[in-house]
Amino acid sequence: MSDILTFPKDFYFGSATSATQSEGTYEGDGKGQDIWGKWFDMEPEKFYNEVGPYKTTTMYKHYKEDIQLLKQTGHNSFRTSISWARLFPEGHGEINEKAVAYYRDYFETLRKHDIEPFVNLFHFDMPAALQDIGGWENRKVVDYYTEYAKACFELFGDVVKKWFTFNEPIVQVETGYLLQYQYPMKVDAALAVKVGYHTALASACAVKEFKKLDTDGKIGIVLNLSPAYPRSNNEADMRAAEIAEAFQNKSFLDPAIKGEFTPLLVELIKKHDLMPDYDEEDLDIIKKNTVDFLGVNYYQPVRIKARDSVTNPDAPFLPTYYFDIYDMPGKKMNPYRGWEIYEKGIYDIAMNIKNDYGNIERMITEIGMGVQDEDRFKKDGMIEDDYRIDFYKGHLKWLHKGIEEGSNCVGYQVWTPIDCWSWLNAYKNRYGLIELDLETQERTIKKSGYWFKDLHDNNGFEL
Ligand code: BG6
Repeated sequence: MSDILTFPKDFYFGSATSATQSEGTYEGDGKGQDIWGKWFDMEPEKFYNEVGPYKTTTMYKHYKEDIQLLKQTGHNSFRTSISWARLFPEGHGEINEKAVAYYRDYFETLRKHDIEPFVNLFHFDMPAALQDIGGWENRKVVDYYTEYAKACFELFGDVVKKWFTFNEPIVQVETGYLLQYQYPMKVDAALAVKVGYHTALASACAVKEFKKLDTDGKIGIVLNLSPAYPRSNNEADMRAAEIAEAFQNKSFLDPAIKGEFTPLLVELIKKHDLMPDYDEEDLDIIKKNTVDFLGVNYYQPVRIKARDSVTNPDAPFLPTYYFDIYDMPGKKMNPYRGWEIYEKGIYDIAMNIKNDYGNIERMITEIGMGVQDEDRFKKDGMIEDDYRIDFYKGHLKWLHKGIEEGSNCVGYQVWTPIDCWSWLNAYKNRYGLIELDLETQERTIKKSGYWFKDLHDNNGFEL
C-alpha cells in the first residue's frame, strides 16, 4: 500500500490571481486607467500577440459562476487583488461606488462558499493618474496608497480577514527601473532604490493603518523568493550569491519582517552614492509596523556566478554589476516554458524563514507551471496536464518535509485558477487549473483541477 502525505488540519488549499489579470471590463463601471492600459495604448506591439489588459477572463461579470468552479476544484481559499484604479479612478479622492458594490459581493460570495478570501492591495497596477506624477518615484504616492489601503480595510474588513499589502514588489523595481522590461522602462539605479524604498515604506504605512483598526484580521506581504545558489564554493561565487540573495530576497523580507533594511544592500547603495532622501519618522514607521504573516511565491531559483571582471567601473550600478546568472548544466527544465524546476527550493525557503525570520507564519501564495500551446495536450475535450500534477506533487513533498521539520506553513495556493492574461506575455503561457477559451470565454476544468479537488478533499495525496 502506498503512503499518503497528509497536511496539517485546516491547511489552506487554493489558487491566486490578480485584478488586472482576471477581471476584464477594463474600461467600464467607472474604472480609471492604470499603467497597463496606458502602456498598451502607447505600444501594443510590446505585448504578446498584441493582446492587452482589455481582453482577460471577465471575472468581473462571471465571478459567481467562477466561484462555483473554485469549489469544483477544491478551493477553501483564494487570493486576488483589488484594482486601485477601479476603486479610486484618479488614484485618490472620489471613490467609485460600483467598485465597492462589486468587490463586496465578490468577497461575500467567496465566504458564502466557505472560501477564505486573501486580498492583495497592489499587484503591479499603478493608477495612470498617479504614474503621471511619477508613481512610486514620488513620496506623495505613498500617502495616496495609504489612503487607498485604509479605505479598503474600512470598506471590506468585515468580510476580508487576510490582507496583503503588495505582490512581488522587487519585480517593479527590477523590471521597471533596472532591466527596461516593464513600464516605465527606465534604467536608473537611483530611481530603482527610491522606488524600492517608497514601496517598503508604503507597505509599512498600510500595516500601520490596519493595526489602528484593531481587528481580528491579519496583514502580510507577498514576496517572490528565489534562493540564490552559487556556482561553486569559491569565495567570489559565494560573495556574488550573497549579494544576489540580498537584492532578490532580503530587500523586502528584511524591512517587512524585521523592520530594517538589509545591511549589505545599504552598504552597496552607499558605496554607489545612491541613498534616497528619507526622514527618521518614515524609518520609524518601517521599524514599528512589521507584517503578521508572509506570502511566498516560488517558481524557480537563481544560479549565480561571480562576474569575471567589472569591465566598466563607471557603468551604472545594477545588482548584476556584482553577479551573473549561471546557466548550470543538467538543471531540470520546464520544457514548455523554459524555467528551471527545482522542487527542493521550496524546502530551502522554508528553512531560511524558520531560521532567519523567526519562523513567521507563511503560506505559498503562488507556484505554477506555465505551458505554451497547451491545446496539444487536449484529449476528448479535456487538457490532460499530468506534467502539472507531477510538478505540484514534487513541490508538495518538499513543502511537507519542511512542515515536518517545524516550518510554520499554513497553505498552498497555486497560480492560477483560470488561465489568465499575464502582462507582456499575455496568453503565451497557460497556468490554470481551468482552461479558458479566449474567444468564447468557455471554461473547462483540466485534469489538474480534478486532481486538486482530490488533494483538498483528502487533505493530502498518495505518493
Ligand atoms: C508571477 C506574477 O510572478 O508570474 C504573475 O505574480 C504572473 O502576475 C506569473 O502572471 C506568470 O508569469 P508569466 O510571465 O510566465 O506569464
